[in-house]
This record gives sequence, C-alpha cells and structure tokens, in this order.
Amino acid sequence: MNKEQIVNQTADYIKTKLSGEGSGHDWWHVYRVWKNAVHIGKHENVDLFVVELAALLHDIADWKFHDGNDDVGPQMSREWLEKLEVDDTVISHVCQIIKDASFKGSGVMSKMKSTEGMVVQDADRLDAIGAIGIARTFAYGGAKGREMYNPDIKPEKHESFEQYKNNQSPTVNHFYEKLLLLKELMNTATAKK
Ligand code: NI
Repeated sequence: MNKEQIVNQTADYIKTKLSGEGSGHDWWHVYRVWKNAVHIGKHENVDLFVVELAALLHDIADWKFHDGNDDVGPQMSREWLEKLEVDDTVISHVCQIIKDASFKGSGVMSKMKSTEGMVVQDADRLDAIGAIGIARTFAYGGAKGREMYNPDIKPEKHESFEQYKNNQSPTVNHFYEKLLLLKELMNTATAKK
C-alpha cells in the first residue's frame, strides 16, 4: 500500500467511526483539522505523511470520553497503523503526537516535541476558536450535561492535567480556561496568521 492509500484508508476508517458523533469531536471536526494541518504543513519543513495520519487519528479515542485515559487514543492508532503495515518509526511519531497534542490545562506547559506535532496541534486548536469553536464548546457542554453559565462558579487556572481533566465547570468558563488562551499558544507562523 502506498502512502496515499494509507491516508485514504485511515480517513475512511475515522469517517465511519466518528460520523454522527454529537459533542463536536465528529468526523467533520477531524476533516477540518486534517485539511488545515496539510495547509499549515506545506509552509513548514515537515513529513506530511506523519502530519496527515496524526491529524486523522488525533480524536480516535479522546481521553475526555475514556475516563481521562490519554493512552487509549495512541494505542488504538498503533493497532490500526500496524494493520496497514506502516513503518514503526512513523507509528511511534504519530502516537507521540496524539498523546501530546491535547490541551492539558492553562497552567501546564505542553510543548510539542516535533514540528509535525506543532502543526497538528495548531490545526486542532484553530478548530477550537472562532465561530466553529464557540459552537463546538456548547455542543460539548450539552453532550456532557453541563450548565451553560453559573456566575457563582469562577474560571480556574488548572495547574495539572489531573486537575484539568476532573473539572466540571460550566461551559462559559471553558472560554477563560482554554479557548481565549489558544491564539497566544499557536506554534507555527502560518497558524498565527
Ligand atoms: Ni480535535
């Protein structure tokens, strides 16, 4: 199987798996992240094959839906890519990106280890801001049964991933705890632009 076929098969797999998902982590989120990652990646010196696979697989099993376990996504990605006989160095790189890319709390430094990872993280974060980001945030809050707004519960700066994972705060707080911070956290010049 050539690289293009591997990317297309992975896209089909994720499309089947995440279509109809109702919390903003659906196939079309992944599709936008994938296309944005390719766009950003073309301006950076990266292995686009790694970028495409990591973008496509980044939400295969988000910790938010697996009791906070951030190893399930990388593990499922590894199994999928091994089935397609992808080179092991590529698999390890993709899995590392999936593990590192998610937001871990405003007080937690999460530096990506490769330019490929920076590109995927930026593309995912671009889909968390703007009109789409606002819509996805409320969709997620609704799916999780959260209050939209409660002035008695103040936004918090989360100092650890554990703290961030366990937070149950109202949806509006999420803007102060994450979304409004993202534009300062973009890794690449293209994403900033
Ligand atoms: Ni995502």
